[in-house]
Amino acid sequence: MNICIVGTGYVGLVAAACLSEMGNDVTCIDINPDVVDLLNSGKIHIFEPGLESLVSRNAAEGRLTFSTDLAEGMKDALFVFSCVGTPSRPDGSCDLSYVDEVAAQIGQIIEDYKIIINKSTVPVGTADRVKEIIESKLKERGKHVEFDVVSNPEFLKEGDAVNDFMKPDRVIVGTDNVRTAKLLETLYAPFARSRDKMIVMGVRSAEMTKYAANCMLATKISFMNEVANMCETVGADVREVRAGIGSDRRIGYHFIYPGVGYGGSCFPKDVRALIDTAKAYGCMSSLVEAVDSVNNRQKRMLADKIIRFFEEQGGVAGKTLALWGLAFKANTDDIRESAALDVIQVLTDAGMTVKAYDPVAGDNAARKLEGNELVAVLESQYGPVEGADALAVITDWNQFRNPDFTRIKKILKTPVVFDGRNLYSRSFMKDMGFSYISIGRQP
Ligand code: UGA
Repeated sequence: MNICIVGTGYVGLVAAACLSEMGNDVTCIDINPDVVDLLNSGKIHIFEPGLESLVSRNAAEGRLTFSTDLAEGMKDALFVFSCVGTPSRPDGSCDLSYVDEVAAQIGQIIEDYKIIINKSTVPVGTADRVKEIIESKLKERGKHVEFDVVSNPEFLKEGDAVNDFMKPDRVIVGTDNVRTAKLLETLYAPFARSRDKMIVMGVRSAEMTKYAANCMLATKISFMNEVANMCETVGADVREVRAGIGSDRRIGYHFIYPGVGYGGSCFPKDVRALIDTAKAYGCMSSLVEAVDSVNNRQKRMLADKIIRFFEEQGGVAGKTLALWGLAFKANTDDIRESAALDVIQVLTDAGMTVKAYDPVAGDNAARKLEGNELVAVLESQYGPVEGADALAVITDWNQFRNPDFTRIKKILKTPVVFDGRNLYSRSFMKDMGFSYISIGRQP
């Protein structure tokens, strides 16, 4: 099948690589010619495990090409995926300008029947909006061309994106057109091998499903963060509580790890966008609003603990913190809405110096933090620890799970570890002689 994909971000590029891997001819469009050249040479501009080899193999075999020319990409394509960014506006609403722009361009060049597929995370009603934009452009051209607009949200996670696309829990297709649904079933058959993985529904239900899924997961995390904070006060241990509740299959173990608050390009943005949609339609959104505010509080929780700890020693001003982990989670170089940035902001505002390390997100963070003279991003894991007053772990990279604590104790000025991900055993840290402060557990 011939496919055109607009956008080479995490969603567009992963979809393009995986669809071409199944034998489809895919042209992926981006407005940036440098990105297009890089991708055509088989290299990728984002960090995503397993993606580069998939892109380079399919590009070399001629099934996957990259271009800046949407008209060329759309010429023979039946399916046109819109995978452009939908960032948050300052008021929390979803900025649809890229989606609108793609729809307008499609309306200006469409010549024959196409299935336009919204894969970006977009508020309820966006498929109708895209349809109207294309129709108005066709009207301006005095043309009548048949087309369908489908909602097909994506559920991949950064860091495991290829695996999630190749073996999805479900494929959601929102359309009222039976024939279009059948064509999408054929397209997705190699991925959604068992029939019940393909869930066809109304367009607005599909759009809502994406927000409901992300907000449900964000709710689990915020709930668990609140439980963790209570555990600290009432003398309980959230790791034990998690094991106790996760064993109930109705609750499950997934997405109930407390920590430094959820970050990334999806949960924070989507939670705010759902609140905005609720407001626009005059609905209640008290629970989702609480999820957002608990998360905002949680993102600075570790910094508050660090400030409290140093209060008895003259405050954090003039002290140095070694910080491990800048990415919003492990296995990505993405620092969007990362809790590390909040922690750094709070501590440097209070006069603390932060020396940070991340296995892959260091360069992105250094660019973002440029100008803050109290921050340095170093290239070695133990470099920041040398002579620091404490170590804080923010991201759950595997290489932080079993570090050389004998060395850390030797090179830290004082043996203090703040753990934002509960990676270590309390008894082990105590035996090693560390003051150990984590999340939802007793010091
Ligand atoms: C999330 C969803 O998991 C995907 O299904 C969805 O497709 C994607 O958003 C999207 O809408 O594009 P992602 O943002 O890549 O994926 O990352 P997650 O693995 O979900 O983690 C999000 C945040 O929650 C991270 O900061 C992570 O550290 C945190 N988290 C996750 C916790 O604090 N506790 C947990 O138990 C799980």
